[in-house]
Amino acid sequence: MPIAPVIKEPEALITWAEEQHRGGHTIGVVPTMGYLHEGHVSLVRRAKAECARVVASIFVNPTQFGPKEDLARYPRDLGGDLAKLSAAGVDLVFVPEKEAMYPAGFDTYVVPGEIASTLCGASRPGHFRGVATVVLMLLRMARADRAYFGEKDFQQLAVIRRMAKDLWLGVDVIGCPIVREPDGLAMSSRNVYLSPRERAQAVCLSQALAAVANRVAAGERHAEALRALMRTMIEAADTARVDYVEVVDALTLRPITTLDRDALAAVAVFFGKTRLIDNRQLHI
Ligand code: PAF
Repeated sequence: MPIAPVIKEPEALITWAEEQHRGGHTIGVVPTMGYLHEGHVSLVRRAKAECARVVASIFVNPTQFGPKEDLARYPRDLGGDLAKLSAAGVDLVFVPEKEAMYPAGFDTYVVPGEIASTLCGASRPGHFRGVATVVLMLLRMARADRAYFGEKDFQQLAVIRRMAKDLWLGVDVIGCPIVREPDGLAMSSRNVYLSPRERAQAVCLSQALAAVANRVAAGERHAEALRALMRTMIEAADTARVDYVEVVDALTLRPITTLDRDALAAVAVFFGKTRLIDNRQLHI
C-alpha cells in the first residue's frame, strides 16, 4: 500500500491546496492530534465520500493543554498513523513542527465566547482558545471547503461551528457520530493510558448515558434526576472521579432544569490520571 505524501511546511500545504482548487477540486480536512483510532478513520471515510481531496493533519497542539495536563505524555505513533490514513485514502498528511505553527513572535489567538464557558470550557480554562486558534490556522492553510470532527468532542464541534459562522470562514463543519468499542466505551486516543481495572470500569460512562436516554424515553423530564442517576452509576466504579456530569441545552450548552427541548447529557470523569469524556444527545 503506498503511503500518503507527508508535508511539514505550511507554505507547501498552501501551495498544494491552491493547486487543487485551481483544478476545481474540493478539499476536506480532518484535523487530528494523531494516535489514530477507528473514530478518526470514520472522519476520513466521510471526507473521502464528500470531497475530491482529503487532507489529514497530525499535530499535538500545545496551546490547548493546561500546565498540569498530559501534553508531554500524549501518545504518538506517526508510522501507525500514516499507515491508517493511507489505507483510508487520504491524499496528503500535514505534520507540522511546533515552530512552524507557533513561530517566534506568534501573538494572535481566537477566544471563543459563551459556548466555551460550560462543560470542558469550565474545567479546562484556555483549552478552547487553543483549539479554535489551531483549527483556524489548519483550515486556512489547507484552504478547507469542509472540515470533519467527531461528536465525542461535542463542545469542540460547537465551538468550531460557531467560529466558522462568526468569522465567515466559508467552511462547512461536519460532525460525525461517536465510534465505540464493542462494550460501549467511546474511542479515544487517551484510552491507552487506562490500567486494565480502569479500562473495565470506564464502560460505566456509556452505561450511565444509556440509562439516561432510557429514563428520558420513559418520560423523565427533570434534569437533576438525570444528573443524579449518572453520578450514582459512575461513582459506583471505585477508580472513577467525576469532573462533571451535566444535562445541557444542545444548542447553547448551558445547564437546563427541564427537558423541554433537545438536550445533551455529557460527562467528564477521571480514571486515575486519565480524563475521559462522553456524551449522548437527548431528543424529546
Ligand atoms: O480533537 C482533536 O484532536 C483536537 O482538539 C484538534 C481538533 C485536532 C485540534 O488540535
